[in-house]
Amino acid sequence: FCFEQKTFIFTKQIVQGKDKHTMKRDSSLVTKAAITAVGSYVPEEVLTNHDLEQMVDTNDEWIRSRTGISERRIAKNPQHSTGFMAVKAAQNLCQNNHIDPSTIDLVLVATITPDYQVSSTAPYVATQIGATNAFAFDISAACSGFLYGMSTAASFISSNQYKKVLLIGADKMSSIIDYTDRATCIIFGDGAGAALFEASDNGFGFENAIHGNDGIGREYLNIQEGGSLYPINENTFNAGKHYLNQEGKTVFKYAVKHMAETSKKVIQNNALTAEEIDYVIAHQANKRIIDATTNHLGVAEEKVLTNIHKYGNTTAATLPLLLADFESTFKKGDKLIFTAFGGGFTWGAAYLTWNYDYQN
Ligand code: COA
Repeated sequence: FCFEQKTFIFTKQIVQGKDKHTMKRDSSLVTKAAITAVGSYVPEEVLTNHDLEQMVDTNDEWIRSRTGISERRIAKNPQHSTGFMAVKAAQNLCQNNHIDPSTIDLVLVATITPDYQVSSTAPYVATQIGATNAFAFDISAACSGFLYGMSTAASFISSNQYKKVLLIGADKMSSIIDYTDRATCIIFGDGAGAALFEASDNGFGFENAIHGNDGIGREYLNIQEGGSLYPINENTFNAGKHYLNQEGKTVFKYAVKHMAETSKKVIQNNALTAEEIDYVIAHQANKRIIDATTNHLGVAEEKVLTNIHKYGNTTAATLPLLLADFESTFKKGDKLIFTAFGGGFTWGAAYLTWNYDYQN
C-alpha cells in the first residue's frame, strides 16, 4: 500500500516548540471519505455512583458535581472483552445498515485495552464479523484513538485503493482499573462504537484534522507495569502498578488547553463561525473538561453533545458512542467538530460534514 503523493500534503510545523501535524488537502484531487453508517455496543451491567459508594469512600453528589457521571457500563462477564464488544458494535452497524462484512477492506480497532498484549485485536474482530477480505490493525492513541483513526480511515479511502473502512473504538476500561482508587475508578466505563467510512457521493464527509502530542504525558497518565520499560514482576504487581494511574488535575489542565486550542485552529482553518457549527463531538472525559473546552469555542451549550452521565469515560469509544446515540439527530450537511485528548499525551480536532439523513 502506498499513499498517492498528489492526494495529501502532510506538513510538519514547529508550533510553540512542539510538532504539530496538519493534514491539508487539495480538494480538486482528493476522494473525500464520509461516515456512511454507525453502530454501538455497551454492556448490560450498570455500575451506579451509589454502587461505588459501597466500594470506596465517595458519594453520588461528589462524583456528579466533579465529573458529570451518574453511572457507567461494566462488562462483568470475563469473556466480554474489548474484542467481544468491538465485534458486537461492528455487527450492530452491519446488521442495521445491510452491510455485507465481506465487502469491508480494512478494519481498524482503536483501543488501549486489547484482548491480548500480543496479538492485536483488529484481526480477531475482522474474522469474527466475517470481514474475510479485510486487513486489520489496532491504533493505540488512548482517548484520541478514534479521532486518530478517523484521519487514518479517511486517508485509506482517499488513496482510492480501499472502498470500505470500518473504524471501531472499543475499551474495557474496567480491566485496568483499581477499584480501590477512588480518584480513578469513578470515571471510567466499558463500551464500543463503530463507524463505516466510504467515498462520499455528495460532497459531505471528512474535511480535515489537526493532531498533536507531547511525550511528557506519560508521566501523568499511564500503566507502568507490563511494558518493555517495567516488565511484570512480583514487586510492581503487588504495588498495583498494573492498573491505570493518573494525576487527575494535571491531565485536566492539559486536556482543556489542547482540545480548546486545536478545535479553535480547525474552526479557523475552515473559516467557520461558532454559529455555523451544528454539533461538537468532544471526548467524554469529564463534564467539566467538556464545558471548559467548549466555552473557549463560544459554541452554544445545546450543540455540545454529551452522554458521559450514563457511560462515563469509555476511552476510544466515547466519540463513536456519541455518533451512535445522536445519529437520528444529525442531518445531511451538518457541520461537526470532533475533539479528543488522551494518554501520551495525544490530542486533536477534526471537521466533518455529516453525510446522510437518518432513516429508521
Ligand atoms: N470521592 C470523594 N472525594 C474524592 C474522590 C471521590 N471519588 N476522588 C478524589 N477525592 C478527593 C481528593 O482526595 C481530594 O481531597 P483532599 O482535598 O482532602 O485532598 C479532593 O477530593 C479534591 O481532589 P482533586 O483531585 O483536586 O479533585 P478534582 O476536582 O481535580 O477531580 C478528577 C478529580 C480525577 C475527577 C479530575 O481531576 C479529572 O477528571 N481529571 C481528568 C481525568 C481524566 O479525564 N482522565 C482521562 C484522560 S482522557
